[in-house]
Amino acid sequence: MSREETSLRRDATPRRYLMCPPAHFGVSYSINPWMDPAKPVDPQLALTQWEDLCDRYLSLGHTVELLDPRPGLPDMVFAANGATVVDGRVLGASFAYPERAAEAVAHLEWFRENGYTEILEPTHVNEGEGDFAVTDSWILAGKGFRSSPLSHSEAQEFFGRPVIGLDLVDPRYYHLDTALSVLDGDEVMYYPGAFSPGSRAVLRRLFPDALLATEEDAAALGLNAVSDGRHVLLPQQALGLFGPLRDRGFEPIGMDLGELLKGGGSVKCCTQELRPAPAGTAD
Ligand code: ARG
Repeated sequence: MSREETSLRRDATPRRYLMCPPAHFGVSYSINPWMDPAKPVDPQLALTQWEDLCDRYLSLGHTVELLDPRPGLPDMVFAANGATVVDGRVLGASFAYPERAAEAVAHLEWFRENGYTEILEPTHVNEGEGDFAVTDSWILAGKGFRSSPLSHSEAQEFFGRPVIGLDLVDPRYYHLDTALSVLDGDEVMYYPGAFSPGSRAVLRRLFPDALLATEEDAAALGLNAVSDGRHVLLPQQALGLFGPLRDRGFEPIGMDLGELLKGGGSVKCCTQELRPAPAGTAD
């Protein structure tokens, strides 16, 4: 059956994203295997690549809010890690490494200045959307390298949504968003090799039809993607994902974020989604 016959129609919904320009980006320390302080970074190119991503969101009709970059925080461009926002409620981050600790404060200040009232400063280490992925039915939560397992119950209690803990076992995929991406509703794509056997079984059970990435596409950080339900923005080197995404009715859009990859991040890491309160419940 052709795609027309199956009439798989994907609809984009407008999103609101929080991003932070890489004004102070660099690799001056190493907290994941992608980071090599000896490797030079081109700051101008990093900025141009980031601007392309930002412009692409705008041209797709999304809203982008900007966080002021702060000197001394070279990883602040990875805005996904600074908080998790679900139903207009903000769970702040608490970073595993002291080098990034001050980013959590900058995010909290932004939310307070921008009208958010339901804000929880966490007790347990969590690196925001680096380790929390929101589907229609669940919040998937990574652990093993950064976020504490205790942050999973903290998130479940705060958001009132079931949180499913998943164990990450490969240091290259130190955050959940380097190994799994939500495409739409309860549809995901992931790289099985990043997860423990038990977590792989959980993923198979919850998402029997998931798109499974190859090792090669995962290693290009192809799962560090952002979907609006139709357009899937992902690292352009993850070529093997483009066909399977199209077969499912998505429109893959390859982005070049090669400079930011030197920090261990790509499209999703740069993008925090501000999920609004459900209609009629906004206070
Ligand atoms: N250098 C950063 C770190 O290791 C990269 C963070 C990438 N962000 C992400 N959402 N995976 O913490």
